[in-house]
Parts: sequence; C-alpha cells; structure tokens
Amino acid sequence: ITAKIIADENFEIAKVPDRIFGSFVEHLGRCVYEGIYEPDHPLADENGFRKDVLELVRELGVTTIRYPGGNFVSGYKWEDGVGPRNQRPCRLDTAWHSTETNEFGLHEMQQWLESIEPERGTHELMEAINLGTRGLQDALSLVEYANIPHGTMLSDMRRDNGREKPFNIRMWCLGNEMDGPWQLGHKNAEDYGKLAADTARGIRQIDPNVELVVCGSSGHTMDTFGAWEETVLDHTYELIDFISCHAYYEPARYDNDIQSFLASAEDMNSFIHDVAAIIDAVKSRKKSEHEVFISFDEWNVWYLTQEPSKKPEGLDNWPIAPHILEDVYSVLDAVVFGDLLITLLHNTDRVKSASLAQLVNVIAPIMTQKAGPAWRQTTFYPFAITSDLAKEGTVLEIKQSSSALSTSAYGDVDAVNSVVVKKADGSYAIFITNRSLESETQVSICLPTDKKLSSVTATTLHDNDIYAVNTCDDPYRVTPQNNDSAKLDEKSHTITVTLPAVSWTAVHVQ
Ligand code: AHR
Repeated sequence: ITAKIIADENFEIAKVPDRIFGSFVEHLGRCVYEGIYEPDHPLADENGFRKDVLELVRELGVTTIRYPGGNFVSGYKWEDGVGPRNQRPCRLDTAWHSTETNEFGLHEMQQWLESIEPERGTHELMEAINLGTRGLQDALSLVEYANIPHGTMLSDMRRDNGREKPFNIRMWCLGNEMDGPWQLGHKNAEDYGKLAADTARGIRQIDPNVELVVCGSSGHTMDTFGAWEETVLDHTYELIDFISCHAYYEPARYDNDIQSFLASAEDMNSFIHDVAAIIDAVKSRKKSEHEVFISFDEWNVWYLTQEPSKKPEGLDNWPIAPHILEDVYSVLDAVVFGDLLITLLHNTDRVKSASLAQLVNVIAPIMTQKAGPAWRQTTFYPFAITSDLAKEGTVLEIKQSSSALSTSAYGDVDAVNSVVVKKADGSYAIFITNRSLESETQVSICLPTDKKLSSVTATTLHDNDIYAVNTCDDPYRVTPQNNDSAKLDEKSHTITVTLPAVSWTAVHVQ
C-alpha cells in the first residue's frame, strides 16, 4: 500500500481552536468520585483532588471541560452541589442508577480546573444546563449564580459559598441529547427548539457575552437526524453559537467487521459535513450573517453494548460511584481514536469545539484504582501527542492519494487518513493512520515551502497484537515508539515514512 500527501503552507483550512482538545467530566460511575476527586487517597491535595490524576490531565493536554453531564445533567439540581458540604443532599441519579452525594459540585469543579495548571489558569469550564426536568427559570438562576459579580440573592449566595469573583462561564450547553428517548425529559424537535430559544434569550438578557450550544443529534444514525437539526436551528439560529454532534464507535456497530471499525472516521466526517450543510441551508433561508459552528462535544470509542457499560439495577440498589463504562482500550481502539481526532482537526473550519468523552475511568484515557495508582490507556497517547504538537497551529489543506481499502460499511476508503498542521514556530506536525488490517504502508509527504527543513522525527503507536491493552498491573504494555523509518529529503521537502498495519503516527518536521 502507498499514499502520497501534499500540503502547501499557503492554503489554510483554519487555526486549530484550543477548544478542539476539550474533554468531558460527568457525574457518572467513577469519573468524579475516585477519579478526579478522592479525599482519602494518599496523593490527594488539600481539596481532595488526586495529584497523580492532575498530572496526567496536564500531560494529556486537555483544554475546555464539559460538566456535569451528559445524561446526568437532565435530572440535576445544581443547587444541591453548592454550599456547606454537610448540608448537601444525597439524590437519585436516574440516568446511571446511582446515588449522587453532591460532595463535588460547581465550586469544586472550578477549583479543580484551576488546579490543573495554576500558573496559567487556561482551563475553561463548559457548563451544561438541565433542560430535561427543569427549564428557563432554573437556567437563569444558575447563570446569575455563576456570572453576576454581586448584589443579588444568588450572586451573594455564591460569595457566601466562598467565591467572591464570578465564575464567568462563557460556554453553556442548552441541555444534553434532548433528541434521545433515553433522556430524562426528552422532547421533540419543535418543543426543544422553542425551549432552547427561550432559554438562550433569557440567558443573553443576563449575560450577552455567553456562547451557547444547542443540542444537535445524539448520533448520526438517529431516525430524527437532519430534521432535528433543521427544526432546532429554525427556532434558535440567531441566538446560539454552536450545534452539538455526538458520536461513539464500536466493532459491534459493524457486526464485528474490524476493517469497517477501522474506518469509523468516515462516518464522523460525513456527520460533520451533513450538519454543516444544514447550518448553511438554515443560514441562507434566514438570510443571516450569523455564523454557527459545530461543537462535537461527545466523541470516542465506546463498547456500549458490552459488559463494562452495564448500569446497576433494582429499587434498593443505587450505589455511589459504581464501576460502569470502564472500557479498557486496545491498540486497535487507539488507532480508531487517533483517526477520529485527525478527522476533527481536518474539519476545524466547521468544528470549533470538541469534548473527548470522557476524562477519567468512564470511557476514558486515564484510569485509576481506588487508593491505588493512575495509569494511561492506549487512547491517551494519540490525544496527548496531537494536543502537544498541534495546539496553536494552523490546519493546512492537503491533497492525498492513497491505496483503497474495501469495507462493508463504507465501500472503498483511503487506507491512510492524515492531517497536516503548520505550527506557530514554522515547523510541521503531520498525523497519519494506517487503517489497513493487513499491510504496512509507504507514505510520502511533500511540503512545498521556501523555509529550510532539516530534521524529521516520527512516533508510532502500534503493536503486533492489536488487542494489547494497558492495565493497572501492566501500565506500560503499550506505549508509542520512535519510528526510525522517517526520512527527510531536504531538496524536495519530502518525508517518507513506513506505517505498520493498524497504526497511528505523528511526524514532526522542522
Ligand atoms: O458519555 C456517556 C453518555 O453518552 C452521556 O452521558 C450521554 O450524553 C451520551 O449518551
């Protein structure tokens, strides 16, 4: 198999938005409790935050964090999670059949974000509002509590609760997956569109500077996909800034046809293009100048139909922080994951925000053991390396010709998926996957530039056993390795590199 990629620095797709490296912390399983927060852990700081997890979160290079759900938010009362801890109520979390102790809430989340990189303080909170069991009034109360400096009951309540300065939350999600019949308070597009528009108008009366995300479809394959976006945008277009997309992939979606699973990003790509087309159609029908972008605020590989995803059952069984959705990711999963990230980067003209779902323990790149260690899953690496190399860069247009692979789900697809980013320092980062199950691929990348290129390094995630995983007992079983096949021809500005079958590679040329 061979592939040729050409990228000219004069043709840009878009600047890499910081928010593309967002993630998601939901009150779900052990994401919060025993994940980011475990006061009894030997490595907990004075706020109960696990320092080993904070360190991995820093290394992962995440930016914006979406919080507190997810399905959880559709039954959540934000007031339960503020004020003196010993007065906070335990509640049923019907989404995940668990008990929510409310020990951790909005203040703790903001504090945790500030603890990631205290010297830079660059981590942004993206707060989701409950539009399932609640509505306009409660949304307004939360925005007042969070963003008004002082002088009203709710803003003063925040100050009494220990935060003198407002949280100044810019990004707000108007509900979560309201198109999904599983969602508490699920609505049809018409009813949701009206509620989202009313809520957006109200929030803007309090704080005109917010950025609002309206719910798009919870999956490309939803029966209501397309019509949902059109109706919701019809009601909200001028009032919001983003429409969301959510997508999860697993082999079971393809009847365990692994070659199709490896091409999952084809679906993500067409999902983005379909939503972009609907945004454009509504925009032109409304003769609007306003721009709406996509917030891909849940994406990942998720073994949704498998055992680790099972939630508890029974009227008398509502555990605190149960072990659910604790998927263990293989090399194969990490390659699909890296391919999805390449696809997000490729579409940064339309996708200006994204959240990897989720961050710790729950379909997550970081795992923890209660009172024990924290470790990196295979998926940690493509995210951390991409974020490190691509942040603050510019995505370039590419021309790519690649041998084709035949898949049952998507027909013939390119064996190679790639994206080229020009970094702020003038060097180039190229991310490439070889999706072939059987063959290695010879790739040549041509970077026409006046600048002198003098060195190349490449890092590849691959294993002869595509099902190899990292576990608590063997946390470094899978790590990225230097790819010594990468060579630079200084005269022609061409890099050649060999990609093993089922692999993800980052190339850095300077
Ligand atoms: O991320 C797990 C769940 O997936 C979220 O709670 C929900 O929004 C989606 O269905």
